[in-house]
Amino acid sequence: MKGLRRYVEDLLKGRRPRSFPVEEADADALRLAIELRAARPGSDAPREEFVADLHRRLAEPDNVARAPMPVGRRLVLGGALAGVGAVAGVTIDRAITGGETPPSDGTMTPDSGRWHPVVAAADLPDGAVHSFDAGSTTGFVTRDGGRLRAVSGVCTHQGCRLHVEGGARLRCPCHQALFALNGAVLHHRLPAPIPALPRLAVREAGGVVQVYVSSA
Ligand code: FES
Repeated sequence: MKGLRRYVEDLLKGRRPRSFPVEEADADALRLAIELRAARPGSDAPREEFVADLHRRLAEPDNVARAPMPVGRRLVLGGALAGVGAVAGVTIDRAITGGETPPSDGTMTPDSGRWHPVVAAADLPDGAVHSFDAGSTTGFVTRDGGRLRAVSGVCTHQGCRLHVEGGARLRCPCHQALFALNGAVLHHRLPAPIPALPRLAVREAGGVVQVYVSSA
């Protein structure tokens, strides 16, 4: 608990976080802190719209009822995170049903979103990678063996924006973590494991590749 608290405080104050043994139960708190850190002005990943939407969604009574936060989390997420800590048990990439989105396999799906066009289908041949910025969401779409795939473009370590390396991998410029195009972590030299990139719902409609993103 102390390690997680210290890690979050370091992160939000812009210091290099000190490592600590990560438990599964810490994952939500860490991810939320990373997103908030990434949202700060001057960050490589300006995500203020995302945080505003997150605040709004987390404030909805229905979300609180569906995902009450363990007491321990409330303590961890005090201070700088107090504004959202009361409902931080709602994970950022949690699939919330509704609308036309088919969440099923851990895909990040906003509860009030829209299909955002990212590239003409003809411009995304097999093996290609295309980056997109949809305001609240940045990421990459790929076509592999005819199958579309989309992942977040924000590093799960401390929220830096990723870039394509060698046409087939995603590199973080901050601490050099390397991800596969399907979001899997390929390599890093960090003291603790980091999560894979969240996947995003993606489809092709009317000759356009679209990604489901928050409507905020
Ligand atoms: Fe540290 Fe990406 S922010 S590896």
